[in-house]
Amino acid sequence: MSEIILGVSGGIASYKAASLLRLFTESGHDVTVVPTEAALKFVGAPTWEALSGRPVRTDVFDDVHEVPHVRLGQLTDLVLVAPATANVLAKAAHGLADDLLTNTLLTARCPVVMAPAMHTEMWENAATRANVEALRSRGIVVLEPASGRLTGVDTGKGRLPEPEEIFAAALNALAARPHDLAGRHVVVSAGGTREFLDPVRFLGNRSSGRQGYALAEAAVARGATVTVVAANVSLPDPAGADVVRVVSTEDLRREVLLAAADADVVVMAAAPADFRPDTRVESKIKKTHDGSTPQISLVENPDILVELVQTRVSKRPVVVGFAAETGDASGSVLDHARAKLERKGCDLLVVNDVGGERVFGRDDNEAVILGADVSVTQVPLGPKIEVAHAVWDAVAELVE
Ligand code: CTP
Repeated sequence: MSEIILGVSGGIASYKAASLLRLFTESGHDVTVVPTEAALKFVGAPTWEALSGRPVRTDVFDDVHEVPHVRLGQLTDLVLVAPATANVLAKAAHGLADDLLTNTLLTARCPVVMAPAMHTEMWENAATRANVEALRSRGIVVLEPASGRLTGVDTGKGRLPEPEEIFAAALNALAARPHDLAGRHVVVSAGGTREFLDPVRFLGNRSSGRQGYALAEAAVARGATVTVVAANVSLPDPAGADVVRVVSTEDLRREVLLAAADADVVVMAAAPADFRPDTRVESKIKKTHDGSTPQISLVENPDILVELVQTRVSKRPVVVGFAAETGDASGSVLDHARAKLERKGCDLLVVNDVGGERVFGRDDNEAVILGADVSVTQVPLGPKIEVAHAVWDAVAELVE
């Protein structure tokens, strides 16, 4: 089990760090809490000491003989700051060290994860944007804040993600993943699109979004700035990623192309509906009661993956497709997949065999990653997060 430093800075959300601390201690990790002076105005030292079973210090002049300002950072496996205020992000970005937490951040040689929480205006301020960018470019994982209710009556982006989400992101960072996507912007599409026939009925598919969300979490852990374009996914947001919600293939196309404009990598893990009804009826389609059935005529949707490949400049972004295939009389799963890779022109194609009840809605997956350079990587059956890391391993070799 690991040694973890939980830095808590001064914000209303610091009470949520108490639940986060419990998640770590209950799963056997040893946690030293390092609150800032301001954090102690929100939640007092006795709470942290009781929950962690360890003494709590904020100042570099406490217990000087133990040299805590250097030792803490050197001896820990992970530094997690939750909530991280705009002030702490700014100090960390500029290397300021005026209390125990900021000293620890300067001496840490382990993964560092920061979960910001602040008002939307502060998060969007140019100074904070620049600080977050600087931290991310150095391999520090800065989670995207969640959107929702803030302190008081305000709502917007800036909420601390839920403790379970931060916990998952921290464990991911702890798993000693390479920070090979630091400073990169990656876009992941996830879920399945819906094409409405009338206000209540749609054509859809069985994609749950799990693999796309696992890709997003894995990319966050590897230091990327992540945009997820999520089509009808009902899972909790992947911690640390920016989530844009869409419904139809046309929505998905618009948002993916928009996000792709400054992306280094786009992974199309979503299952876009290939067809849509040629008209969407404004009122509910009624039964005729004369035995006749409505005829639905379909038109083909644009192929987003192909468009991404055709519109990119100098092979940027790297484009990754997914293919859910079944073998049939005309060829095996891999035969169909190779033909698809060639047809679509993407750099990598992640192939799932979906014969039987495999893949959809499950937590584990197995895959084969085909490269345009004819490389073939088998990914054994395992959790979708492991498949996700295998995909990023392959992508990392292609990103310049
Ligand atoms: N895809 C896309 N736009 C579409 C359909 C698919 O970008 N309109 C992407 C998917 O996100 C996936 C890849 O293309 O990454 C392959 O999807 P798949 O449904 O297997 O491809 P199709 O071209 O629809 O092939 P098939 O004829 O086998 O259905």
